[in-house]
Amino acid sequence: MRILLTGKNGQLGSDLQKILTQFGEVTATGRNEMDLADPTQIQKTVRQVKPRLIINAAAYTAVDKAESDPELAKVINGVAPKILAEEAKDAGAALIHYSTDYTFSGETQKRAYSESDSPAPKSVYGKTKLEGDQAIEMSGVSHLIFKTSWVYSQSGKNFLSTILKLAKEKELLRVVNDQIGAPTWCRSIAIATGEIIQSILDKKGDSLTKSISSIAGVYHMTCQGETSWHGFARAILELTSPGKMPKLLAISTKEYPTPATRPPYSVLSNSKLQKTFGVKLPHWEHALKQCLNNIS
Ligand SMILES: NC(=O)c1ccc[n+]([C@@H]2O[C@H](COP(=O)([O-])OP(=O)(O)OC[C@H]3O[C@@H](n4cnc5c(N)ncnc54)[C@H](OP(=O)(O)O)[C@@H]3O)[C@@H](O)[C@H]2O)c1
Repeated sequence: MRILLTGKNGQLGSDLQKILTQFGEVTATGRNEMDLADPTQIQKTVRQVKPRLIINAAAYTAVDKAESDPELAKVINGVAPKILAEEAKDAGAALIHYSTDYTFSGETQKRAYSESDSPAPKSVYGKTKLEGDQAIEMSGVSHLIFKTSWVYSQSGKNFLSTILKLAKEKELLRVVNDQIGAPTWCRSIAIATGEIIQSILDKKGDSLTKSISSIAGVYHMTCQGETSWHGFARAILELTSPGKMPKLLAISTKEYPTPATRPPYSVLSNSKLQKTFGVKLPHWEHALKQCLNNIS
């Protein structure tokens, strides 16, 4: 099967690239091969590659920067997914796309969000990602949207690497403890995506596009459990610097103002994913240990 992957240099895209090779010929693209800000490049690439499956792991993910760069965030997160969806539909291909817990407000939420809960994003990033999700749903393409949260990687710049770096440089770290979510290792998402594609291919009979069409929609896909950024930082430090941990101070969101508003609570229930595909991502602490083993 021919697969077109976007975001090959991103956290998730680089892990997906390795996992997808088992399914056939993967054309992995980054900004240089296909700039998602240019609709013509998207159309040209999809028509050249003629994929059976498009996987969009690219996005404008700079949450704070998006507040002062809303036009580009909209183009990448809202418009590009729409064009990918239209192209996929015209080509008879299916589309797998990723979304974010930041599409929810989290303001009064006390229990894990389900897929039927109403989105109410408070940031430009969340709003533009929601526009992308809605455009895909409206397009009528055969699609799966996996909504995930707090994604980190074994390499590159992310919360994990920031805490590891700060632990070497500082004696005191101040980390927010009133935002609750589920840290999710990008490899856990890539593995789950691979398992889901395999389970769909294993169902003999219908084509991939038709099979995905019958279960099309949004699915929450995060590691299990929940914590605060402070709890996540504590776990990282306990696993990597036992005995010589810097002091870790819990602070409130008010004490750490950022341009973008983040949801105070954005845990996502994965029960639809588990029920539909029999796929369960590991607990966030387990995934973190596995990720750290990959670094050392
Ligand atoms: N990171 C999180 O905490 C988080 C949380 C929830 C959901 N998600 C979602 O999960 C998915 C994967 O996120 P991630 O963490 O892997 O993101 P990431 O590491 O920031 O990777 C995003 C990729 O998109 C590419 N990209 C941006 N603009 C582009 C353009 N104009 N043309 C082509 N490519 C472009 C980037 O390319 P360059 O390398 O050239 O910049 C980058 O490689 C996204 O849909 C994201 O919204 C992420």
